[in-house]
Amino acid sequence: MAEKFIIEPSGALKGAIEIGGAKNAVLPILAATILTGEICTIQNVPHLSDVNYMCCLLESLGVKSTWDTSNGIITVDTTRINSREAAYEWVGKLRASFLVIGPLLARFGCAKVSLPGGCAIGARPIDLHLKGLAALGAEIEHSHGYVSVAAKKLTGAKVYLDFPSVGATENIMMAATFAEGQTIVENCAVEPEIVDLANFLNASGAEIRGAGTDTIKITGVKSLRGTDHSIIPDRIEAGTFMVAAAITRGDILLTNIMADHVKPVIAKLKEAQIAVEESEAGIRVWHEPSMDIIAADIKTLPYPGFPTDMQAQFMALMAVANGTSVITETVFENRFMQVGELKRMGADIKIESRSAVVEGIQQLAGAQVTASDLRAGAALTLAALCADGVTEISSIHHIERGYQRLDLQLNKLGAKIRRVEGE
Ligand code: EPZ
Repeated sequence: MAEKFIIEPSGALKGAIEIGGAKNAVLPILAATILTGEICTIQNVPHLSDVNYMCCLLESLGVKSTWDTSNGIITVDTTRINSREAAYEWVGKLRASFLVIGPLLARFGCAKVSLPGGCAIGARPIDLHLKGLAALGAEIEHSHGYVSVAAKKLTGAKVYLDFPSVGATENIMMAATFAEGQTIVENCAVEPEIVDLANFLNASGAEIRGAGTDTIKITGVKSLRGTDHSIIPDRIEAGTFMVAAAITRGDILLTNIMADHVKPVIAKLKEAQIAVEESEAGIRVWHEPSMDIIAADIKTLPYPGFPTDMQAQFMALMAVANGTSVITETVFENRFMQVGELKRMGADIKIESRSAVVEGIQQLAGAQVTASDLRAGAALTLAALCADGVTEISSIHHIERGYQRLDLQLNKLGAKIRRVEGE
């Protein structure tokens, strides 16, 4: 049954929130456990539907896993894998399932994975993933919506990524783990989640250098072993709660967060005259009553630029800021799905090609809106907190993909969100 959020205006949110493990780190690392052929223990795993889907996909390959959701620990045993095929049933539910193609190819010399297809925010091609696998020596075949890759042996190669794709960097890094010789990936992604994956792989016995820079070098090894790993904090969940403090003119302390990972969001919040203070205790975000929230322009870019995954949430804040903000989305071609819904709440936003021009207004109005994708759903939730009147958000399953009970977490800070069964 589709569920909805019913959200009343919350007033200023106040209190402390502990940030959970990063969705976009745990998904590739779960895929990477395939390479070890042993038991791995992953800690600080967030309780998300996307993580559940990845575990189901691994189980469909023969992997055994147990998930202690109360402690956030997943134990994965990839000793016995009896299938090299990732079915549409799972890849269709979770695009990140495509990240198993690299590890399966590296360990078994073959893999057959359903093409992930597009999603609400864009076509989401995988050409750069396949360019890298082909460079390592894989034969690639497409048929009936699946891509098959095979190689008697993988040999290290130099791969230049036309775009610093996060997923392509991850798949190539995993595929190259056992390749003979050295693989160099140039113009690769530098996101913190890439570093976390490299740290997991190196702890398992891989030889990966340069993660976090635009050139990663992988020297092939014979095998990997099981290991324990704790997932880095989720910088996008953190940014979302920072905007929650700003948009409700509240005061929230975020703990268990790496300040370095949220620098661009902190910079933009300060530009909007939101107070941010980093200390041993964590990151405090609050609104100084004497300071207007003012418009700030953002342009999404690969890390360390302003993250595309924070664009919608920041737009919700700019919708009630003083002045005009220009928000340019350079990473995905269709990531303004929240605009129509924010306009139903009274926001004044005009889309001009890859930019949205946001004229801040005094206050949004509660309305019935629909979440189109994960971050758009988060943005609507934030907008509802400060809207005049009740907001009803349907299709909240999108939100559950990337946030651990966002309603309960916000209610702990003073929000008034009810979850009800939809039609
Ligand atoms: C990862 O997606 C994240 N997902 C996304 O988070 C995030 O928005 C994105 O990186 C950018 O940071 C996970 O890590 C599971 P990309 P990914 O490959 O790997 C083009 C969220 O909300 N491209 O860096 O799919 C592509 O079209 C999600 O948590 C190619 O052209 O992102 C896009 O324009 C949404 N060819 C750009 O690169 C390729 O082969 C960025 O894509 C691959 C990508």
